Amino acid sequence: MSVKYETREGVAILTLQNPPVNGLGLETRRGLLEALMRALDDAAVKAIVVTGGPRAFSGGADIREFNKPEAGMEPTLPTVIAAFERSTKLVVAAIEGLALGGGLELALGMHHRVADKRAQIGLPEVKLGLLPGAGGTQRFPRAVGLETAVNMIVSGTPVPAGKLVSTKLFDRVVERNTLDVAIAVANEAATSGALPKVRDWKIDHPNAEGFLGFARTAVAAASAHYPAPLKCLEAIEAAVKQPFDKGIDAEREAFALLIQTPESKALRHGFFGERAAGKIADIGPDVALREVKQVGVIGAGTMGGGIAMNFLNADLPVTLLESNQDALDRGLATIRKNYENSAKKGKLTSEQVEQRMGLIAPTLSYDALKDADLIVEAVFEEYGVKQAVFAQLDAVAKPGAILASNTSTLDVDRIAAFTQRPQDVLGMHFFSPANVMKLLEVVRGKDTAKDVLATVMALAKKIGKTAVVSGVCDGFIGNRMIEQYSRQAGFLLDEGALPQQVDRAMEKFGFVMGPFRMGDLAGNDIGWAIRKRRYVEKPHMTYSKTADLVAELGRYGQKTGAGWYDYKPGDRTAYPSPIVDELIEKNSKELGIARRAISDEEIVERLVYALVNEGAYLLEDGIAAKASDIDIVYLAGYGFPIWRGGPMFYADTVGLYNVLAAMRRYAKGHEGQAWEPAPLLVALAEAGQSFNP
Ligand SMILES: NC(=O)c1ccc[n+]([C@@H]2O[C@H](COP(=O)([O-])OP(=O)(O)OC[C@H]3O[C@@H](n4cnc5c(N)ncnc54)[C@H](O)[C@@H]3O)[C@@H](O)[C@H]2O)c1
Repeated sequence: MSVKYETREGVAILTLQNPPVNGLGLETRRGLLEALMRALDDAAVKAIVVTGGPRAFSGGADIREFNKPEAGMEPTLPTVIAAFERSTKLVVAAIEGLALGGGLELALGMHHRVADKRAQIGLPEVKLGLLPGAGGTQRFPRAVGLETAVNMIVSGTPVPAGKLVSTKLFDRVVERNTLDVAIAVANEAATSGALPKVRDWKIDHPNAEGFLGFARTAVAAASAHYPAPLKCLEAIEAAVKQPFDKGIDAEREAFALLIQTPESKALRHGFFGERAAGKIADIGPDVALREVKQVGVIGAGTMGGGIAMNFLNADLPVTLLESNQDALDRGLATIRKNYENSAKKGKLTSEQVEQRMGLIAPTLSYDALKDADLIVEAVFEEYGVKQAVFAQLDAVAKPGAILASNTSTLDVDRIAAFTQRPQDVLGMHFFSPANVMKLLEVVRGKDTAKDVLATVMALAKKIGKTAVVSGVCDGFIGNRMIEQYSRQAGFLLDEGALPQQVDRAMEKFGFVMGPFRMGDLAGNDIGWAIRKRRYVEKPHMTYSKTADLVAELGRYGQKTGAGWYDYKPGDRTAYPSPIVDELIEKNSKELGIARRAISDEEIVERLVYALVNEGAYLLEDGIAAKASDIDIVYLAGYGFPIWRGGPMFYADTVGLYNVLAAMRRYAKGHEGQAWEPAPLLVALAEAGQSFNP
């Protein structure tokens, strides 16, 4: 039963029962209509209260139904809402937990609303490139006023009901007993005989035209790559200027248009891809999780400090181990400084800073780790150092403790073999700065136990990370792909481009940062060290020499005040460097390459398709389980434009046949490893298929 029906003192109480958030799937919509009919037919019932229980009134559309025929089957949500609005018996919504999207639209179709002041209220459709399509753009402005409606619909950000007390949306905002109050309101209001409908309300604003004009300019500037915010605004404008039914038509038309846009498709791919990343084919809900209440972090350097903060923020105590007192003191001071900076920005109170610092137990002794449930290592990137650490962990950690390495490039299976318990070992590859970056690659070793993997995936969610599982390989998913992208960027310099042109083209495509600015931020010494190893281990892998030449000059990037670009003290602006430009041109001459004009289109295609091709190899090798996992890595960790859905999804939209054809074109004159198309890509392209089903 998706909707429970009971009566109390002449009031029918309809309780939505579709966990976890009372999504409005077909069965629930049918259940609502049936319960409404039953209440209307019951002569003893004089009013109706609809509730969802303490967790959620309703989170809106049932996402399990997305892209399925059920989503469009009658009764659709507009049908259900219209039925409640037309009800000849008074209907009151009792809102606790959340009323989002379709859930709020449903409540807007009822005659009265009572909400717990903490309930989250919002219309987040814009985040999926859509607009509220069940009357939300028409009824919400009537209920909360034009300006609040524009802000909330265009941003998609929910607010607590308490923040909307001054609007007409709620009859009562309460601190407790929402349902009882709703029943009382139903009893009271039923006696008056009036059935107020939001659709009949006026939108009062002293200067609606002026405000909409202002909003249009602001929204257009802030959402250049997204069509949905402007469409939201247009639909709200229809609510202001047209009769209700005409406004509904305008909303429906805009919704039908948005759902077909590549931007909305990409955003929905990102949304579902993130959820899918948490689902691992061979791990079912029957796998019991290990308990993680105490965490250990080894190494309080760049990564260790940030990693520790993630756990502290989630109220998990952290034992922080260093090899010497100085490094420990430095690490603690950095963590404190980070928290104090957040406090200065008003994101934390000073009590919260102290509370979090109080959760750290600093130590120089491995004995202090004996009670830890999870220990994450972030020491120097050398097998010798890792071996010493894991051997000691093996000696002191309690049975069942999870041992994780934050290594970026080393073999997690080899690290696991430094212990007698490889089943408890895996990689947790955080990105810098670890307390800020959302992405976490969880590296599954050949012996990693299922419950270890499942526990770390669940924990990742708890600390607010977007976690993706990767198999063991050099660079895992993200860095293995970025190397191919960087190689192409280097070759472009040899052939005629300059760093600023490459960066500009990639940033115009939508990357947060082009490859050379990114290099300057991360430190050019890191790539240099990796290449030196490659020259020995993989001599067939060719690179442009320019990156080595820049690094040899000590131009490591922002941290040395010079890299691919010049920097001024206290200024992160990247200024094109005449020294680097000259070095690049000289290098081309020495290679005997006649520099040519290179189009932005070629830059984008070569860099993005290099990612795509390596992504296809990762799928083939089983390092990534599905194409959407790769997309999520790039969306969450590498600044790939969100509205393009990630490299694999983007390739699908271009068409794999076209991608392959372009790669073959670029391969001419550059035969060899850089453009060897992955067999999977060739097979899919020839079959007219795509990476994402
Ligand atoms: N910096 C990055 O962007 C980044 C990103 C992802 C992963 N990683 C990985 O994280 C790890 C740490 O990198 P980092 O950048 O934080 O290095 P770092 O040099 O800033 O910090 C390493 C810390 O480990 C401490 N340490 C060294 N040996 C130790 C031992 N035996 N016991 C206890 N502490 C010890 C050092 O004193 C130092 O404070 C490496 O494996 C690296 O590959 C780094």
